[in-house]
Amino acid sequence: METYQLVNGVKIPKLGFGTWKLEEGDEAYNSVRAALDAGYTHIDTAQVYGNEPSVGRAIQDSGIAREDLFVTTKVWNDKETYQATLDSMEESLEKLQMDYVDLVLIHWPNPLPLREDRQWVKRNAEVWKALEELYKEGKVKAIGVSNFMERHFDALLETATITPMVNQILLAPGADLPELVKYYMDQDVLIQAYSPLGSGEMLDKEEIQAVAQDVDRTVPQVAIRWSLEHDYNPLPRSRNKDHIVSNFQVFDFELSQSQMERLDAMEPAKEQPDPDHRPF
Ligand SMILES: NC(=O)c1ccc[n+]([C@@H]2O[C@H](COP(=O)([O-])OP(=O)(O)OC[C@H]3O[C@@H](n4cnc5c(N)ncnc54)[C@H](OP(=O)(O)O)[C@@H]3O)[C@@H](O)[C@H]2O)c1
Repeated sequence: METYQLVNGVKIPKLGFGTWKLEEGDEAYNSVRAALDAGYTHIDTAQVYGNEPSVGRAIQDSGIAREDLFVTTKVWNDKETYQATLDSMEESLEKLQMDYVDLVLIHWPNPLPLREDRQWVKRNAEVWKALEELYKEGKVKAIGVSNFMERHFDALLETATITPMVNQILLAPGADLPELVKYYMDQDVLIQAYSPLGSGEMLDKEEIQAVAQDVDRTVPQVAIRWSLEHDYNPLPRSRNKDHIVSNFQVFDFELSQSQMERLDAMEPAKEQPDPDHRPF
């Protein structure tokens, strides 16, 4: 598996496997096992997905050495303090049956109850301080954020002693955010592309179907390849074994500049939500 290198030298596999909506129990377990069997070495979960136990069990049962895998989790909105973050990460490690995670992210920049008077600034500073400490202790190998717009990132940098190494945002053909991406890439922040298939809504878009036909590939393969060509770190999710296998076959073809331009310009299936207008 090809890797990117984070600013701290940690290597991260270029393709990850998403686990949002994979139900705790058989569904999450079987999907993650199928992904590991197919060759994925990078799994993206989150506290709020509720499936850390099955993700951990699937990894354990796969027999793959821990150091050969890259596992991400995310601290959810209900963790508002330094101590709550430390406690929740202990809980995540226990559920995952791991001594460390490779990457932990602040999942959302401005939880709804903390939106007034920008109370989220203090909350993020506290959560980040806890993540910095876990990083120094070696319980997490890298730390980052998700769904952060410039204003959230700048506010965090006012108190951070370590700059976030990753920002995970929604990026997919037609739903690119070149200015935001440039802002982060200029600061050596790796961009992870979530919902790279528009949560499945990309499949019936004519523009990408045409490119897929041109290169004799599936729409998901083209969408994932688009992400890789932009140097993003895509995290497709599937509960279907055949899809899991075929989504992994993205390292043996390329898209031309004109195909990339067509995909950049297409109608989006789904776009990055503005964190100020989400009901959580
Ligand atoms: N940080 C955040 O706030 C955030 C937000 C959203 C997502 N994420 C992360 O990003 C991951 C991916 O995003 P997502 O879950 O929104 O979905 P996605 O990967 O964009 O799309 C998943 C959908 O595409 C379908 N699909 C996948 N491969 C396919 C194939 N080869 N052929 C046909 N259909 C296919 C899946 O159905 P089947 O199961 O039938 O294949 C599923 O319905 C998440 O799981 C999560 O890890 C993070």
